[in-house]
Amino acid sequence: MKRIFSGAQPTGNVHLGNYLGALRNWVALQREYESFFCIVNLHAITLPQDPKILAAKTRELARIYLSVGIDPNISTVFVQSDVAEHTELTWILNCSARMGELERMTQFKDKARKQQEENVSVGYFDYPVLMASDILLYQTNLVPVGEDQKQHLELARDIAIRFNRDYGQTFVVPEPFIPKVGARIMSLADPTKKMSKSDEESEAGCIMLLDDADAVRRKFKRAVTDSGTEIRFDESRRAINNLLTIYHLLTGKSAAEVEAHFSGKGYARLKEDLADVTIGFLKPIQERVRGIDDDKLDAILKQGAEKAEAIARATLKHAKESLGLVGARK
Ligand code: AMP
Ligand code: TRP
Repeated sequence: MKRIFSGAQPTGNVHLGNYLGALRNWVALQREYESFFCIVNLHAITLPQDPKILAAKTRELARIYLSVGIDPNISTVFVQSDVAEHTELTWILNCSARMGELERMTQFKDKARKQQEENVSVGYFDYPVLMASDILLYQTNLVPVGEDQKQHLELARDIAIRFNRDYGQTFVVPEPFIPKVGARIMSLADPTKKMSKSDEESEAGCIMLLDDADAVRRKFKRAVTDSGTEIRFDESRRAINNLLTIYHLLTGKSAAEVEAHFSGKGYARLKEDLADVTIGFLKPIQERVRGIDDDKLDAILKQGAEKAEAIARATLKHAKESLGLVGARK
C-alpha cells in the first residue's frame, strides 16, 4: 500500500479552509493509502507560543482529526514531538538543504518582511526542512495539502532527490495532492486573502470548526460580496466564487445543481443557506469532539506514536548509514 503523510499546526483555531483544503481529503484517502496524520507542534514553536495553550491546542487538534472522520483503527494519528526522529533527520537534511532555497520560500519571505528579518527565529527559517523530514521519514508517496504548502513540498522533493543522488537511494520522492477545488478557501471578510488562522484581524472572515451557530450566521451575514447580483461560479468574482465553492463542497451538489438552486435568488438567501448547511455540518463534528475523553485520546496518540516511531527509526537508520554516520551503537 502506498503511503500518505500530512499534518497541521496546533495553533489558533481549525477553520473551514483547513477542512476543505486538507482534512477532508485525508479522510477520503485514508482507506486507499497507509496514512499518517501528525499534529506538528514542533512547527508551531517556530513562532512564540504560550505553553499551556499549545498543550491544550495539541489535544484539541487531535480530537478534531478524529471527529472529522480520521479513523484511528486504520490511520496513524500522532504528535510530532513524540517521535524524536523528526528532529534528528532535520539536522541531517539541513546539511543537504541550501540557504538560497530556504530564502526563496514565500512563507519565510512574507514573515521576514513583516517583522524585521533579525527577529524571525532560525526555526522559522528552517521550518520547511522540518517539514521535509516529516514527509521523508515515512517514505511518503503522497502529501495531501492546501495550495499554500505547494512550495514547501517542492523543496521536500528537491531535498530527497539531492540526498538520493549524493548518498544513494534512501528516500521516496513524494508527490503533492492538491485538490482542484477547495485548495485555497478565501477569507469571508476579504476574498483576496486566504482564510487563515494566524492572521488575527481576519477572525470575522474565518469560520472555525468549533464556532457556534450564532458565530457562523454572523460571519456569513457579514461576508463581503462583489458587484453584480447573479449567483453563479465566476473566477473573476472572487467573493461569490468562494461562497459557492464552500456550498458546493459541503453539500456535495454539483456546480450546475448549486447554480440551479440559487437561480433567481439573492445574496441574502445564499448567506442564509450557507449558514444552515455549515451549522448542520459542524454540529455532529462538535458533538464528537466533546465525546472523546482524555483516556481514549491518550491511548490513540500513544499507539500512533509507537507505530510512527518504528517506521521513522528504520528510515533514520538507513539515512545515517548512507551518510557514514557510524559510532558504537547500531
Ligand atoms: P495549517 O493550519 O497552516 O497547519 O494548515 C493545515 C492544512 O490546511 C494545510 O494542508 C494547508 O495547506 C491547509 N489550508 C490552510 N489554509 C487553507 C485555506 N484557506 N484553504 C485551503 N486549505 C488551507
Ligand atoms: N507546514 C504545514 C502547514 O502549515 C504543516 C505540515 C508540517 C505538513 N509538516 C507537514 C503538511 C508534512 C504536510 C506534510 O500547513
